[in-house]
Amino acid sequence: MAAFTFTCEGTCPHTQARAGYFTTPHGGIPTPCFMPVGTLANVKTLTPAQLKDTGAHIILSNTYHLHLQPGESIIQEAGGLHRFMGWSGPILTDSGGFQVFSLSDIRQIDDQGVTFRSPHDGRTIHFTPELSIQIQNALGADVIMAFDECPPYPASAEAVEEAVSRTSQWLKRCVEAHHRPDQALFGIAQGGVYPELRRRSAEAIRQFDLPGYAIGGVSVGEPTDLIQSIVRQTAPYLPADRPRYLMGVGTYEEMRAAVAAGVDLFDCVIPTRYARHGTVISRGRRWNIKNAEHRRSLEPIDPECTCYTCRNFSRAYLCHLIRAQEILGYTLLSIHNVSELMTYTRKMRAAILEGHFHEHWDPWR
Ligand code: GUN
Ligand code: ZN
Repeated sequence: MAAFTFTCEGTCPHTQARAGYFTTPHGGIPTPCFMPVGTLANVKTLTPAQLKDTGAHIILSNTYHLHLQPGESIIQEAGGLHRFMGWSGPILTDSGGFQVFSLSDIRQIDDQGVTFRSPHDGRTIHFTPELSIQIQNALGADVIMAFDECPPYPASAEAVEEAVSRTSQWLKRCVEAHHRPDQALFGIAQGGVYPELRRRSAEAIRQFDLPGYAIGGVSVGEPTDLIQSIVRQTAPYLPADRPRYLMGVGTYEEMRAAVAAGVDLFDCVIPTRYARHGTVISRGRRWNIKNAEHRRSLEPIDPECTCYTCRNFSRAYLCHLIRAQEILGYTLLSIHNVSELMTYTRKMRAAILEGHFHEHWDPWR
């Protein structure tokens, strides 16, 4: 447990924002911090060296996908996820709790676990809290997530209440099944859009005295102002001296509101998924590099961005590559988009430490 410490290095006097430092066996993470997603043991189109160059500190991978393909035994035999994929920094694996619900053909959910058909080869798989932890122990990430039930949106208060109580019962089983002290197990709060259930879920999971806690069940189709108010109503019930992680969120507005509410970590597929469609994120906005206006532009995406792509390539070149569906185009846009979100969370951290976070970043000011 001593491997995982969360130190608060500065707080904003006007909001709940804090600048922290979370240590793991593969390195420290300055927070607030965005985590790029590497679902299948790679952040799509980026090598680990390119990823490091974007400023990424920690990446996220998925238990669900890696269990289906190639299977955790292959990764374990290769020396664990870090060695298998050639990334020596911290890694977090999600538990499969969310992916089972969003990506597969569910056959049955009960107190024991979830039965579903693999979209990969059609076989029937039974996921339980114990199996999720066993797989995550084999994969060997620094941070592993509890197996939770993420209800859809909209869902009735009764259905969400059932998911909340199941998620805390499953957390107990995860804690009992977890046997690697070099991996930090994070609990996940559910509760949908119901403030009372959010509070109850957060208070139930914090009883386990874990090295970190996540807010799950958001960004499942609710409007953005609802996401922001849920986060504001959940974060205060999670312990202030542990990192708080908002799962699946990575837009500018939602991250800044969440940081103001006391959240430290984020993950989202947006920067790499957008890149594969030619969508650029820059200066709080998004636009497409394929648009005709960029065809002859010798300007970089953003003259103030210091990423490899902006230092070396014009919009005209990127527009050409993406229109021609060249793989390098996806790589170069991913480098820019991931760098952009790393810069965004780094700027919030600097603003907190310098004492002016609320002036530019507090959405409720
Ligand atoms: N990723 C995004 N939301 C969730 C969630 O509610 N649970 C899990 N396990 N992963 C997520
Ligand atoms: Zn750039």
